[in-house]
Formats: sequence, structure tokens, C-alpha cells
Amino acid sequence: MKILYFTGSGNCLSVAKRFDAELLSIPQMIKNNIYEIEDDVVGIVYPVYAISIPDIVRKYLSKCKIKANYVFVIATYGFTDCGALHEMKKLLETSGNKADYYASLLMVDNYLPLFDIETQMAKLKEKNIENNLNKIVEEVNAGVTKKENCSWGNNLASSIGHVVIKQIEKYTPKMFYVNDVCVFCGVCKKVCPMQNIIQEEKNKPIFGNNCESCLACIHNCPKNAIQMKTQRSEKRFRNNNVSLNEIIKSNNI
Ligand SMILES: Cc1cc2nc3c(=O)[nH]c(=O)nc-3n(C[C@H](O)[C@H](O)[C@H](O)COP(=O)(O)O)c2cc1C
Ligand code: SF4
Ligand code: SF4
Repeated sequence: MKILYFTGSGNCLSVAKRFDAELLSIPQMIKNNIYEIEDDVVGIVYPVYAISIPDIVRKYLSKCKIKANYVFVIATYGFTDCGALHEMKKLLETSGNKADYYASLLMVDNYLPLFDIETQMAKLKEKNIENNLNKIVEEVNAGVTKKENCSWGNNLASSIGHVVIKQIEKYTPKMFYVNDVCVFCGVCKKVCPMQNIIQEEKNKPIFGNNCESCLACIHNCPKNAIQMKTQRSEKRFRNNNVSLNEIIKSNNI
């Protein structure tokens, strides 16, 4: 089994790690120019962004050829997945691929302009993540087939709403500022999947415009030095089952 994944704060990697599989980070696949994935079983695990698919995942999969007997898709999200699975179905079809199993998993929402991590952590119990994930893992390991089953209203919302929300998200890096607790460690640069951060010697990081808005830099800064003008609180999040080194290994390109 091979799993293609993309992660900013570890939710998707924590899901991918639950399978007995070779884990393939999409930023690393792009860096190494690997666009053919072959195995008996292939999985795709991605976070819902703007009720759809992150651009980096979309761009990669639009060029990728997947050869497998069974393909499964898992979208992690924090509030609403809307038609994100249907968006993935369309994307796979246009690139000549198809999946046999679709599921989405409600997890911690890491989008700081809309949600604060304190409230998200308080909702962990009601989100019932472990049980829901166990069920998905069981179904995939048993080779169950499952359609994406998004309603037409959600499909419409995702295909139109996504374009609008994406425009708003473009302003995300313009909201970043770095305070004086920065120790110039360069972690933010290493966890950025887009090489969008310059950090040299005793200088604070500088953010460019090639941003996926993944918030990996903010959530993984060991000093909590990166702030967003629009953030709901100062608390940051990295999934408990994922280490900083694993995020660096996934995204340092
Ligand atoms: C830019 C951005 C946009 C997001 N948009 C949505 C969304 O439309 N719906 C939703 O439920 N969660 C949304 N989220 C929350 C993530 O999908 C969720 O926290 C996901 O599990 C993060 O995965 P990761 O930890 O692997 O990065 C968004 C997060 C980011 C950073
Ligand atoms: S990760 Fe945080 S402390 Fe380290 S250089 Fe970046 S902003 Fe500064
Ligand atoms: S600058 Fe930060 S938010 Fe933008 S792509 Fe890099 S890590 Fe993600």
C-alpha cells in the first residue's frame, strides 16, 4: 500500500500513519518529479481547504497517474467538508484516475482566522475522531467500496464557493507578522511546502506570495512567534501523533 498525503498541522499525516503503508508526501513527490504511483492499494489523504482541495494537491493529482487495484480517498476537515470529496472525484476523473472508496473525517480545525484552538480542543470528544477513524481504517483494509455521496447543493457550493473563498485566502500571508520572541531557528522555513519563506542568520522570516495558506509555519513555530492579524487566539496546534520532524520531513523541499 502507498499513501499520497499533504499536511500542515499533522492531521492528515496522523491519518496516513494509521495504515500499514509507504507514506508519500505530495511536496516531496513534486520535488522529485514522481508522477506515477503504482501499488495494489493506493490512498490519497488531504485536508479540506476552502471547501475543496488545496492547490498543491490539485496540481499534483492533475498530472499524476495512479495504477492500483483499489484506490481510497480520505479528506480531513474541521467544520464542513461540503462537496470536497466530489471535487476530488472530478479531479481524479479529469486526470484519468478513479477511486473506489471516499470518506471524510472531522478533526481539529486549524484555520486560525475562523477558529480558536482552545475551543477546537474542547470539542475533541464530540468529534469522536478515534472511533470514526477506526471505522475508516477497517473499511479500507477490508476493501469496501463507497461513493462520495455529496449532495448536489454541496457540490455546487464547493465548485463555485471555492473560487471565491480561495481569493480571500490569498491574503493569508499578508496577515502574518513575527514578534520579538523569534530565535531565528529556521523551522518555519523548513515546514513550508512552497519554499515561500526566507530566513537567514539573525533575521526574522520573510514571507513571499507563493503561499498555500497551509499555516504549517504558524502552527509549528517552536516559539509561537508568528502571529496573524485576524487570528482568534494565540494557541497553536500540531496533531499529537505527529512530531515536528515528521512535518519537516514531509514539507522541507
Ligand atoms: C487554508 C485552510 C482552509 C481550510 N478550509 C476548510 C474548510 O473549508 N472546511 C473545513 O471544514 N476545514 C477547513 N480547514 C481546516 C482543515 O481542513 C483541517 O484542520 C485539516 O484537518 C488540517 O489538516 P492538516 O493538519 O493535515 O494540515 C482549512 C484549513 C486551512 C489551513
Ligand atoms: S520558526 Fe519561529 S522562532 Fe524559528 S525562525 Fe521561524 S518565526 Fe522565528
Ligand atoms: S508561508 Fe506558511 S502558510 Fe504559506 S505555504 Fe509556507 S508554511 Fe504554508
